[in-house]
Amino acid sequence: MKINIAIDGPSASGKSTIAKRLAQQLDYVHIDTGAMYRCVAYLAINSNIDLTDEQSLGEMAETMDIRLSVDGKVFLNQKNVTEELRQEEISVGASKVSIYANVRKAMVKRQQAMALAKGFIVDGRDIGTVVLPDAEVKIFQTATVESRAMRRFKENQNKGIDSDFELLKNEIEQRDYQDTHRKESPLKKAEDAIEIDTSEMTVEQVVNLIISYIAERNYFYD
Ligand code: DC
Repeated sequence: MKINIAIDGPSASGKSTIAKRLAQQLDYVHIDTGAMYRCVAYLAINSNIDLTDEQSLGEMAETMDIRLSVDGKVFLNQKNVTEELRQEEISVGASKVSIYANVRKAMVKRQQAMALAKGFIVDGRDIGTVVLPDAEVKIFQTATVESRAMRRFKENQNKGIDSDFELLKNEIEQRDYQDTHRKESPLKKAEDAIEIDTSEMTVEQVVNLIISYIAERNYFYD
């Protein structure tokens, strides 16, 4: 029997990396909900919509076309925006637009429609609490600010991008604050989620831990 797996946690805690690997190993489909809020920010910026204009953002969020391909590409109104969505301006913008109730309502509706059946691994901030409260497995993935900033720093280094460690750390702290203090669906651990602090763990270790947690509950054999 297939199940649904919710992975929530703060920015840069490696949720997408883990979700992608798990999806490959289990032959499940990964839904990156952060990419959807990034699309809202991207389209708003490119349409000159103010990131505090809740009404226009909400209307835009209802009508825009967002498609997530199984190989991890993101298409916004038929345009492949996968790379652009990773820019710092978009990360900051996504954190801003995701505070609004009508933006969230539009995104949650789409996410619930996408994961209507089983066999999905959905990562975000409110998956275990709001989007898929019935998910069989809920993970709350954390890591210290230092280790998250270090991962981003190394990622950038590998891409040949210069970055300032302290600046990355500050940006992550600011986004944590914004995501945990907003009124609408703030980031918080679902009561029935298991928390994994990945600061000192490799990707393989986290993936194996989650797979053994699922196996212990016999979900693979039902
Ligand atoms: O996971 P990410 O960094 O790509 O997410 C970008 C922003 O979108 C993040 O600052 C918080 C927001 N977000 C959210 O509010 N709810 C989600 N389910 C996913 C992301």
